[in-house]
Amino acid sequence: MTRKLSQATMGLSTARRLILVSECLMLLLGSSWASNDTIPLVIWHGMGDSCCNPLSMGSIKKMVEEEVPGIYVLSLMIGNSVLQDTENGFLMDVNAQVSFVCNQLDQDPKLKAGYNAMGFSQGSQFLRAVAQRCPYPPMKTLISVGGQHQGVYGLPRCPGESSRICDWIRKELNSGAYTDAVQKHLVQAQYWHDPLNDDLYKKYSLFLADINQERGVNETYKKNLMSLKTFVMVKFLQDTMVDPVDSEWFGFYKPGQAKELETLQESAIFKEDRLGLAEMDKAGKLVFLSTDGDHLQFTREWFNEKLLPYLR
Ligand SMILES: *[C@@H]1O[C@H](CO)[C@@H](O)[C@H](O)[C@H]1NC(C)=O
Ligand SMILES: *[C@@H]1O[C@H](CO)[C@@H](O)[C@H](O)[C@H]1NC(C)=O
Repeated sequence: MTRKLSQATMGLSTARRLILVSECLMLLLGSSWASNDTIPLVIWHGMGDSCCNPLSMGSIKKMVEEEVPGIYVLSLMIGNSVLQDTENGFLMDVNAQVSFVCNQLDQDPKLKAGYNAMGFSQGSQFLRAVAQRCPYPPMKTLISVGGQHQGVYGLPRCPGESSRICDWIRKELNSGAYTDAVQKHLVQAQYWHDPLNDDLYKKYSLFLADINQERGVNETYKKNLMSLKTFVMVKFLQDTMVDPVDSEWFGFYKPGQAKELETLQESAIFKEDRLGLAEMDKAGKLVFLSTDGDHLQFTREWFNEKLLPYLR
C-alpha cells in the first residue's frame, strides 16, 4: 500500500533516478572493495578444532579483522558443517582435504590476487601442501603456528577434551601406522614419522613423505614452495602435545633412533635441498619464531607484535 503510494507520487523518472543513484552507490562500494589493499588471509585450524569455534579460530579471525580493517579472513571449513569439519580433522584422507581446499581457494573471487595463509598445528603442514600443489591463487606468506613439518612420533596429549580420542589414535597407530587402511583413514597417521622405521615411512606415508619429497623430487613442489615471499614457523617452547617439538621448526629425530635431534639445517631435506628450503634460507625467506607457551598458547600482544606484521 505505502509502496504503491510512493511510486505514484514519485513518478517514473524519479524512480529511474533512484535506481541510477543506487547503481552508482554499488559501483562506489565495488571500487572501494576492489581498491582496498589488504591481503586476504586463509586460516586452517588444528586437530580437534573447527573453522568457527568462537574460542579458537573464531576469535583469531575476529582479532585479525579488528587489527587489519577491511581484511578478508577465510577460516577453512573442511566439509559441510562444523561437526563434519571437526571429524574430518581426525578421519579424512589428508590428500583429499588438500584438494578440497585448493578447489575452494580457486573458486573464491576475493583470493584471485593472492593471499596469506596461517595454519594452526596440523593445519600448517596441510597449508604447506596447498602451497606446493596449488600455485593458483598464489599464496604469498605462509605462517605455521605449531605445525609439524617433519611429522610426529608421538602425541603425548591431545588438545582440549579429546584425550579419549588421543588414546584411540595411539592404539590405531600402534596397530600399524603405515598400513593402507590406517593411512587412508587416520589423519594423524598421515604425518606419523617413525624414525626407527625410516624405510616404511618413506615408502608408505601417503601424505607427509610425499610433500617432503622422500620418494624423489617433484620440481613443481620445489618451485611452488620457493615462490613464497616468506615462510614463518612458530615453535612453542613448552609444547606438551607434539613430539618432537623441533618438528615445528622442520627439525626431527636423526634417522634410526628417537633420542638425538637434528635441525632443519642439519637434515637431508635441507642439505639435498629437496624443497628449496636451503635456497629460501639463503634468501632470508625463512623465519623461525618461538614463544614460551604450551601448544598454541600465546597472548594477543605476542600475536600483534610477532605475526601481525606479516599480515599487513
Ligand atoms: C575489502 O574490504 C571489505 C570490507 O571493508 C571486504 O569485505 C573485502 O573482502 C575486501 N576486499 C579484498 C579484495 O580483500
Ligand atoms: C608433481 O606435482 C604436481 C603438483 O601436484 C603434480 O601435478 C605432478 O603430477 C607431480 N609430478 C610427479 C612426477 O609426481
